[in-house]
Amino acid sequence: MKPSTRLIHHPYRPPAGFDAPQVGVHKASTVFFPDVATLRARDWRQKNGYTYGLHGTPTTFTLEERIATLEGGLQCLLVPSGLAAIALVDQALLGPGDELLLPANVYGPSRELARHELARWGITHRLYDPLDAAALAAMIGPATKLIWIEAAGSVTMEFPDLQGLLQVARAKGVTSAIDNTWGAGVAFDAFALGADIVMQALTKYPSGGGDVLMGSVTTRDAALHERLKLTHMHLGLGVAANDAELVLRSLPSLALRYAAADASARELATWLAARPEIARVLHPALPGSPGHAHWRASCRAAAGLFSVLFDARFAGADVDRFVDALELFRIGFSWAGPVSLAVPYELAAMRQPAPYAGALVRFSIGFEDVEDLKADLDQALSRLRG
Ligand SMILES: Cc1ncc(COP(=O)(O)O)c(C=O)c1O
Repeated sequence: MKPSTRLIHHPYRPPAGFDAPQVGVHKASTVFFPDVATLRARDWRQKNGYTYGLHGTPTTFTLEERIATLEGGLQCLLVPSGLAAIALVDQALLGPGDELLLPANVYGPSRELARHELARWGITHRLYDPLDAAALAAMIGPATKLIWIEAAGSVTMEFPDLQGLLQVARAKGVTSAIDNTWGAGVAFDAFALGADIVMQALTKYPSGGGDVLMGSVTTRDAALHERLKLTHMHLGLGVAANDAELVLRSLPSLALRYAAADASARELATWLAARPEIARVLHPALPGSPGHAHWRASCRAAAGLFSVLFDARFAGADVDRFVDALELFRIGFSWAGPVSLAVPYELAAMRQPAPYAGALVRFSIGFEDVEDLKADLDQALSRLRG
């Protein structure tokens, strides 16, 4: 055998007896079968063996198991982004003639997916008020096949009547899916409350670094998982082992990071609520915020994410100047990383009718010292007055 061949066929055994805190990175497109009989007997749907890189390696299987544990679920699928996780659920469960119900404050791209892609396949959608479970019940008809729930809602941060909405879905026999990105498996127990599917953008708190895009779809029902798994396979979805490793490395600190962001965000939200420039703070854990009673009923924590509405005397351009004047807060969308973020939103362009008049800024609180963040907000607010 020539050296070039020997380099390829050099014996390799994964290290036995090697134990360490972090999981190894196993990367593969091809997975070898020991013989033809094993190849013929393979079952891509089962996790009792490895068949193809796209269908999982020891690294991605471990991450799936840990996310299922985090969510209180039994099975989990990984996909390349949070939005891909939403799309997987929609595509697996909906077909021509079906109706999807979305909360009025749903993550924007989820609604765009429904408006553009699902509509082309003959799937309709309507928006419901996440604070009104009775109104949701009245909307459900024979064509309704899936209800998405988001807690808290994107940007305007209303906390839904989680228990009421899930009871309605269950009573009417409609599959419910929760976007648990805000709760991250830390703030509340989505399955215990009655959800059928729990999705997360692992991009946010589970990664926590601002450097990975990934999504998860977790279930407790084997038949539902199988349906999702088949669509996952047909679409060729999978995640890179290096990215899975980054999330695995971050998971042990998830609860600590979540608690730290929660504490800083509540302090800053309370501080901002007392400022004359701010008309209203939208933070589910603050009394007076929409859905606060629902948050209290279901949650033990809150994410480091909140929005503020500026006093009516400030125009959008003034508020843009405030955001530009921030020095520690950076301007960017994907939240839950180490760096605090601020994004101005134009509500009128997002929702009709706009739930609030006036300019809104959403903050994601990172791990900077909270007094430094306060000083940064203070200096930017003072420039707004000037
Ligand atoms: C609530 C929510 N769901 C889903 C997503 C989508 O996640 P990704 O950026 O990984 O596609 C986001 C991203 O901002 C989000 O905020």
